[in-house]
Amino acid sequence: MTDGDRYTGPEPVPAPSTGDGAGGREGAGGAENGGVSGGTAGGADDAEAVRRPAGGYESSRASRGWWDRNADDYQRDHGDFLGDARFVWGPEGLDEAEARLLGPAEALRGLDVLEIGAGAAQCSRWLAAQGARPVALDLAHRQLQHALRIGGGTGGEAGFPLVEADARALPFADGSFDLACSAYGAIPFVADPEQVFAEVARVLRPGGRWVFSLTHPLRWALADEPGPEGLTVIASYFDRTPYVEQDEHGRTVYVEHHRTLGDRVRELRRAGFLLDDLVEPEWPEWNQQVWGGWSPLRGRLVPGTAVFVCTRA
Ligand SMILES: C[S@@+](CC[C@H](N)C(=O)[O-])C[C@H]1O[C@@H](n2cnc3c(N)ncnc32)[C@H](O)[C@@H]1O
Repeated sequence: MTDGDRYTGPEPVPAPSTGDGAGGREGAGGAENGGVSGGTAGGADDAEAVRRPAGGYESSRASRGWWDRNADDYQRDHGDFLGDARFVWGPEGLDEAEARLLGPAEALRGLDVLEIGAGAAQCSRWLAAQGARPVALDLAHRQLQHALRIGGGTGGEAGFPLVEADARALPFADGSFDLACSAYGAIPFVADPEQVFAEVARVLRPGGRWVFSLTHPLRWALADEPGPEGLTVIASYFDRTPYVEQDEHGRTVYVEHHRTLGDRVRELRRAGFLLDDLVEPEWPEWNQQVWGGWSPLRGRLVPGTAVFVCTRA
């Protein structure tokens, strides 16, 4: 991936916004880490990578700006792998069509599903094809413009609602959905995941499933490199200090937040979820791609993704 390369595909069309008012578009970022973003640097200026605290609003504002600036690169670099209408849980390529973490295929038909941190809504498009009624939510306007570019509905629309909002304040009534899901969306980027989990619990109907993936917490102890150097422990797994990229004025332009596996279990239980499964996808032989710090070399030895499968009590 090359810093500063621009998206060269069809021009996305403007997306309608239900807007939540959060976030801003300032900052001059360029992710250097190759973390969840896959290292798709997009800003003109150099950002400095540090470990330091980053609050809730600060994190959302940085994420919104970063994903707006880098959506084109992300979709260009990873769009083929993701597919326009596939549900891929992470760089290992675990596909919901086979994994069935959301439940049996026939049970999806007619369900109201909320996808959080949907990006270009590839997963929602797959869900719609299964007969579900998805709503694709993302903080970044540009990601949702890509959802419209890919389309799927009539008249240049996605075929299901696109909602521009922060997962920390979901703009839906209580009990609106049967199922919520997220493939690497929002959770790795928020300072207050317990707030997101509480919101998901609120908008789910009792018994509803909540399934989400994120970087396996173990990876936070290792160098974030796809090669052998990425097999060396360089930090404490127990250090929850956020990874922050800041501009020359010290403004946060990119952030990822770490919790241990145990932290996640406790956060989910406090929000009223039962943990049904914790899936650690193994790296398949067919997958030869390198995505940021994810690679066949590391994937064969240490987990790269954790998928939490939960039920609202
Ligand atoms: C790694 S991308 C994943 C996108 C998509 N799920 C996929 O698999 O390609 C993370 C997405 O989370 C979104 N995001 C980050 N923070 C968010 C927040 N607080 N609320 C909603 N979406 C957020 C970003 O805008 C971005 O589109």
